[in-house]
Amino acid sequence: MSCRPVSVVQSKRHLVLIGMMGTGKSTVGARCAESLDRPFVDTDDVVVQLAGATIPELFEKGEHEFRRHEHAAVAIVAQSPEPLVIACGGGAVLDAENRNALRGSGFVVWLQAPVDVLVERIGAGSDRPLLADTTARAATLDRLITLREPAYSATADAAVDARGAPDEVADKVLAAFGAG
Ligand code: S3P
Repeated sequence: MSCRPVSVVQSKRHLVLIGMMGTGKSTVGARCAESLDRPFVDTDDVVVQLAGATIPELFEKGEHEFRRHEHAAVAIVAQSPEPLVIACGGGAVLDAENRNALRGSGFVVWLQAPVDVLVERIGAGSDRPLLADTTARAATLDRLITLREPAYSATADAAVDARGAPDEVADKVLAAFGAG
């Protein structure tokens, strides 16, 4: 992938991807980062580093334990002086301070895909604690989308259809960001 120039304004801002589990934030984010010649950071990875524990281990102590570390992770990455591409865990936008930190430091793109696509992409092997009940994945995702849509909508500068191949979706994200 060749390197794409961005406007002076966008060159100082993070490119932030939000959206449900399975929308491809990490895959698409890594491709955007390559294109923009920037580091890619996934807040879930920062959580694991900060906590010294896996996401399932944190959830075992209660979802609040995961969210506490996620809050710290979002604050750290948002404050980075170096412009990044940031993929956020699907629930990061539920916290108002996280929303403010992301909107204040970045251009936020909401990746959207219907539940059947999410279920197919997540596959059988996922270790996401919120989807531990494998018999009810579609229903859980459906419920979470309904609950979270207002938060995604309030955080996003742009929405992108995430149903295509990763390179296609990355191109749409980069176009929304004003790159190229
Ligand atoms: C979560 C999404 C996960 C991870 C955690 C909780 C959520 O990240 O942060 O399991 O609340 O939607 P991905 O969106 O990268 O799967």
